[in-house]
Amino acid sequence: MTQAPTATRHRRPLIAGNWKMYKTREEGLHFLEALASAAVSGQWPAAEFLPELALFVPFTLLEALHKKASELKAPLSVAIGAQNMESRVEGALTGEISPRMLEDVGVSWVLIGHSERRQYYNETDATVNAKLLAAYAHEMQPILCVGETLAQREAGGTDALVAEQTQKATQGLSPEQALSLVIAYEPVWAIGTGKVCDADEANRVCGVIRQQLASLYDESLAAQVRILYGGSVKPDNSAELLAQPEIDGALIGGASLDPASYLTIVQATSAKPATLNACSL
Ligand code: PGA
Repeated sequence: MTQAPTATRHRRPLIAGNWKMYKTREEGLHFLEALASAAVSGQWPAAEFLPELALFVPFTLLEALHKKASELKAPLSVAIGAQNMESRVEGALTGEISPRMLEDVGVSWVLIGHSERRQYYNETDATVNAKLLAAYAHEMQPILCVGETLAQREAGGTDALVAEQTQKATQGLSPEQALSLVIAYEPVWAIGTGKVCDADEANRVCGVIRQQLASLYDESLAAQVRILYGGSVKPDNSAELLAQPEIDGALIGGASLDPASYLTIVQATSAKPATLNACSL
């Protein structure tokens, strides 16, 4: 039997920063200026090696940084995203920000289900699913975060947990929507602790998530979805993590607050052999 022709697709690396509750507008604008001057002085990888870049900033910085980012000169391009949003469009929900409000300031990227939201603001798999569906309904690009706590890892529950979080979060997502999803594997015990997950193990768990997508959808779809690693990614451990075949980029907290360390991690991506991410469809 003749095989169907195969096309090679690449999962373009994505380096995302999560600023959490840090920085004023002025500090955020300085950060983007520092990235722009690094680009001018030739510190950025050549255009063909440049990963996709995104920064998830506090709500109060969104409008100013989105405007500033739109003025950056090619090939430097940085998407500005929100760290959370409410799934409903409007309502008597004091303190919440809706997808419509994000659209209104031109923001189309959003983090969904970060472990700090799950841990401190009681977000459940059901809320995460509702937010993910809302993101797609508003044509936004979500990054879904999944990951186990230390207790869950020590009890041997990591694989089942990330598979379950992935399944529950993606309920009701069409294959077209799932195809464009970005998932960040972020072990909770590695976030903000300086205890990075071993590169081999991070790679293995990203593979478990991909396998779960394959069983929820199909192999070819799963092979195209970008899966990032997050949790104490730093300039000195990023090259090893990013070289892993299942890891398509990073979600960086602390080390994304400083333009120089963010830039070093971006440069580490360019060392990733392009073929590693190639997949035959
Ligand atoms: P960290 O945070 O890099 O500071 O560990 C990662 C995250 O919370 O996304």
